[in-house]
Amino acid sequence: MRIDVFTLFPGSFDWFASQRHVANALAGGHELALVNYRDHTPLSAGQVDDTPFGGGAGMVLRVDVVEAALRAHYGEDPVALRERRRVIALQPSGRVLDDRIVDELAAEDELTLLCGRYEGFDERIVEHFTSDRLSIGRYVLAGGELAAMVVCDAVLRKLPGALGHAESALEESFSDALEGGPEYPHYTRPAQWRGWEVPEVLLSGHHARIAQWRLQQSRERAAADRGDAGS
Ligand code: ADE
Repeated sequence: MRIDVFTLFPGSFDWFASQRHVANALAGGHELALVNYRDHTPLSAGQVDDTPFGGGAGMVLRVDVVEAALRAHYGEDPVALRERRRVIALQPSGRVLDDRIVDELAAEDELTLLCGRYEGFDERIVEHFTSDRLSIGRYVLAGGELAAMVVCDAVLRKLPGALGHAESALEESFSDALEGGPEYPHYTRPAQWRGWEVPEVLLSGHHARIAQWRLQQSRERAAADRGDAGS
């Protein structure tokens, strides 16, 4: 998997790239490239954004600047690029990220993520250069960087070798093994703390009963998250 992130703040990914599972994924041959729009701007003084036509607050990322950055990096017209790879604009109003979308993205060989800043993108960027609009939730962040890190984190940890144990991703929240439901509760030592006990079944060593209990817990959590009565 190769993920290219276009941003005005590549340095904000330093911490993220050093996280264990990300570092593992990168050491295992996956790639995370950061491209600074500003390095490719055709405008003077490193300009990348401008005031919105029609008035209003804030600044808008310019279409000519984003085109120049995409062309410089891929050596082709970005209108053609999106036909052969997913080019994703991160926006508060896009399709809301969930585990199904993460699986979909993790199955790709290459992804491009475009981070907006300030008031966001000139709409022509989204309309002509991107294949998807993705949101990490219905709230507005100062820019797409945190959203891009969320997407990269969720995608990279799905890739083989990123997690310590191959099973960890199999039976986790929203996996098929749990019928798409949330993960069951976990406990570890001490078995007793301030009178708070670990469910007896988990100490029983009875694998079939444990599996049944966990699935039941996951189902109950799913019902509670849906707000079903009586749960
Ligand atoms: N950029 C700003 N806010 C965002 C959000 N909620 N999701 C994705 N990108 C964003």
